[in-house]
Amino acid sequence: MQPKDMKQKVCLALDVDNSEDALKLVRLLKNYVGVFKIGSHLFTKVGPKIIEDIRELGGEVFLDLKYHDIPNTVANAVRMATRTGVYILNIHASGGCDMMRAAVEAAETEAQKRHIRKPILLAVTVLTSLTDRILSDELRVKHDVLNQVVHFAELAKSAGIDGCVASPKEILAIRKTCGDDFVILTPGIRPVWSTAKDDQRRITTPIEAINSGANFIVIGRPIVKSEDPVKAAKSVINELLQENA
Ligand code: C5P
Repeated sequence: MQPKDMKQKVCLALDVDNSEDALKLVRLLKNYVGVFKIGSHLFTKVGPKIIEDIRELGGEVFLDLKYHDIPNTVANAVRMATRTGVYILNIHASGGCDMMRAAVEAAETEAQKRHIRKPILLAVTVLTSLTDRILSDELRVKHDVLNQVVHFAELAKSAGIDGCVASPKEILAIRKTCGDDFVILTPGIRPVWSTAKDDQRRITTPIEAINSGANFIVIGRPIVKSEDPVKAAKSVINELLQENA
């Protein structure tokens, strides 16, 4: 695989407090990372202007706001997000089929109307911080994580969603049921040299995730909190390129 193609699979979580820190990371890392993820942390502080700023620097944006509301509200949020030109956008599969269908229709209609591209719409399955115990004891979900993830992925696919967010441990099972065209994006990535597991439970290395068939990997703290983010990002991309040479 070409370095530029591999770079497009790596998505950096810009979990920082302000635009200056976020844009500094984009400038530093845009040669190693193709997609920059803006989550509720940064977006709540700085708003949509950051999307424009990152795109001007040549980065693609994954707007990770995980919408979960009634269909009409989610459709309106997706419509507004589509206007910003984001590359990837997500909603929660647990919002149900009507909500997911409303999101798909809103993204398609808005993109057509404005002659812009439709964002890749992903459904969050089960957050990578959750475990079987939390699902059963706290959330009273009757299935284990893997079964619940595969169920949500199938549901999302049937609603017309492009793909899903899941842990790397679930990629093979999702591929088997949802096929090769279904986009899979995985957080919960920890390179071998990264000592911190943080609050992630179902983790794996970048290579394992890509080799299992992830289309995108999301990595945050191992790069952002590193003393040398460029060295950390370079080592992730070099490892991936060596393995796929
Ligand atoms: O720092 P770390 O590599 O754990 O960052 C992972 C990022 O992916 C965070 O921004 C987190 O919100 C996000 N994420 C996740 N699990 C999901 C969906 C998104 O960890 N299921």
